[in-house]
Amino acid sequence: MSDRLTTRYMTVEDLDAVMEIERRVFIDPWSRKSYEFEIIENRYSLPLVLEYAGKIVGYAVVWQVYEEFHIASLAIAPEQQGRGWGKYLLETLLKLADNADYALLEVRPSNTRAIRMYEQFGFTRLGVRKRYYQNGEDALVMRKMLRKL
Ligand SMILES: CC(C)(COP(=O)(O)OP(=O)(O)OC[C@H]1O[C@@H](n2cnc3c(N)ncnc32)[C@H](O)[C@@H]1OP(=O)(O)O)[C@@H](O)C(=O)NCCC(=O)NCCS
Repeated sequence: MSDRLTTRYMTVEDLDAVMEIERRVFIDPWSRKSYEFEIIENRYSLPLVLEYAGKIVGYAVVWQVYEEFHIASLAIAPEQQGRGWGKYLLETLLKLADNADYALLEVRPSNTRAIRMYEQFGFTRLGVRKRYYQNGEDALVMRKMLRKL
């Protein structure tokens, strides 16, 4: 099945499909403008879509800022979750992190599914950012070392 999975750079033409997923999976979705900024303006950003048989089934945004590879957003369409595609996307992302010392991300402490996936990939709990999310929820900060410092 994974032979029909591909990743490529996100374009503005992808945003109808991306936003449709974004609004269903996140309680505080990013705006379309935020994604446009990531695609068009943010030179530190690497926005990717995951396609299955030509249809967008997930996406991710990574900020490559000097030594840090920051996973800012990652999602799989609800009806496609649990098939290993989140792991595929994360594995693909991490292969692109060749110049970074570490990968970092924020995740809701209540998001046990995502936390379990990140732990499988060697991310460990680094700390908590208080009231990080719009609804006042804290964020768990997780890090995976990519190189010995
Ligand atoms: C988190 C997310 C990206 C995972 O993608 P996915 O395709 O559903 O996950 P996969 O099928 O690749 O499974 C990855 C791992 O997640 C965990 N997982 C998957 N389904 C799970 C479930 N129902 N309960 C608990 N853990 C689960 C497991 O550790 C699994 O690995 P395993 O199958 O070897 O046990 C996806 O669920 C998603 O988009 N969620 C909503 C958006 C989100 O939370 N993004 C992350 C923000 S930081």
